[in-house]
Amino acid sequence: MTSLTSSLHTPSASHGAYIQHQIERAIDALMASLPDPKGLTGNQRRGIIARYSAVLEGNFIYWMTAAYLSVKSEEARSIIAENLHEEVRDCHPGMLRKFAIAADAVPTDSDALAVYRELTDVRLFLGRLSAVPSVITMAFFEGFIQGFMDFLAELATDQGSLELEYTEVHGVCDIAHTQGLYRALNAEMAVNLPQPGTNLFEGVELLTALIRTIVPAAKSTKTYPANAHSIVHGARGNAKIARLTKAEA
Ligand SMILES: [Fe+2]
Repeated sequence: MTSLTSSLHTPSASHGAYIQHQIERAIDALMASLPDPKGLTGNQRRGIIARYSAVLEGNFIYWMTAAYLSVKSEEARSIIAENLHEEVRDCHPGMLRKFAIAADAVPTDSDALAVYRELTDVRLFLGRLSAVPSVITMAFFEGFIQGFMDFLAELATDQGSLELEYTEVHGVCDIAHTQGLYRALNAEMAVNLPQPGTNLFEGVELLTALIRTIVPAAKSTKTYPANAHSIVHGARGNAKIARLTKAEA
């Protein structure tokens, strides 16, 4: 990220596509480092689901609200409001809690403590309400979550759970949410550029560190197969939407 940060010392509205590309690269790198679920013990599977829940259940809507409060452009506000509307209306935190209960992975106090420091860092960062870096962070988060769903579903299934509404819904709706946040980013950059020298990817770096506490990188070369996870961007994402829409019909 260092070379990227310095190359964007003076961000301009034309940097949107480049930033999106860097976010996608960061997501792909994180996905490529996931361990192979088949090599995990029951305790490790439970821990990943529990820490994921400890982070997402109470913070996702709060952090998206921080992005909403930070942006100034009408288009970015309306895109993020729509995202929040869906989260609240369809009770996504409740969906995640059901998922964790069914996988026998409700977060304990030690799960909350395991993520505490890195979680606090993300909270404080988003609390600065810096518009463009906040939208970049949430676009990265949405894109990662979407790609992570197949992995998370596999952990739950291996735990003996059949409750997959959370992973199925987010494997699909977060494709559109990620694309929406890229549009919000471009809209915001057209009217509200960050100060020169701002590290646009600070939130991506902090969130990556937090995700690492949820799911440590694979220690060996035995990683999650690259073709097993969906890609948020491009033709493979669209193919996944088509496949799931067909399956639901
Ligand atoms: Fe959600």
